[in-house]
Amino acid sequence: MTQVAIQPVGAEAFRIIAGLYAQSFDDPWPEPSVRELLSAHGTWGLVVLSGAAKDPAGFLLARVVADEAEILSIGISPDHRRTGLAKSLMAAAMPRMANSGAANVFLEVGTDNPGAMNLYFGLGFLEVGRRKKYYRRQDGSYADALVLRKPLLRTS
Ligand SMILES: CC(C)(COP(=O)(O)OP(=O)(O)OC[C@H]1O[C@@H](n2cnc3c(N)ncnc32)[C@H](O)[C@@H]1OP(=O)(O)O)[C@@H](O)C(=O)NCCC(=O)NCCS
Repeated sequence: MTQVAIQPVGAEAFRIIAGLYAQSFDDPWPEPSVRELLSAHGTWGLVVLSGAAKDPAGFLLARVVADEAEILSIGISPDHRRTGLAKSLMAAAMPRMANSGAANVFLEVGTDNPGAMNLYFGLGFLEVGRRKKYYRRQDGSYADALVLRKPLLRTS
């Protein structure tokens, strides 16, 4: 089985996240923007490193404000998809959110992203809202965003 390590994002990981982001999403997200986002109060990230070489394989960015948490972004590099890494990142992030006081975690997902919807529904997220034509895709089409929520349990 491939070795996997999940660790909090430090300053050295801004470039890694920007690189992984570019592999996961159409719109680029340059390193300074990652740095700026992660400097905001309550915002943090996790990266997952795969194999003995510790290849950066994915990231998750989150924010906790008062009793609400939000998954801001999650992406796994195409070479490492469908090996459970997104599930592992989510499993690592949720207790962290709960233990910093969040009672619920929210996220948005495009209705044209069945893989991500499967991931979230499989983890017990439920739909609590829909934003019509929220995402404009590169081909000019629009997709609705579903707003999903999952209650969190404190573990400490
Ligand atoms: C969505 C994404 C994060 C999933 O990452 P992943 O590491 O491949 O997901 P996992 O291997 O942990 O999969 C967990 C479950 O999610 C579901 N799933 C993940 N990818 C799927 C796909 N392409 N098609 C269908 N179901 C999928 C499955 O139920 C899967 O469980 P299974 O493999 O036992 O069937 C990844 O495809 C990605 O980075 N996509 C581009 C960025 C993106 O869309 N981010 C989410 C924005 S809301």
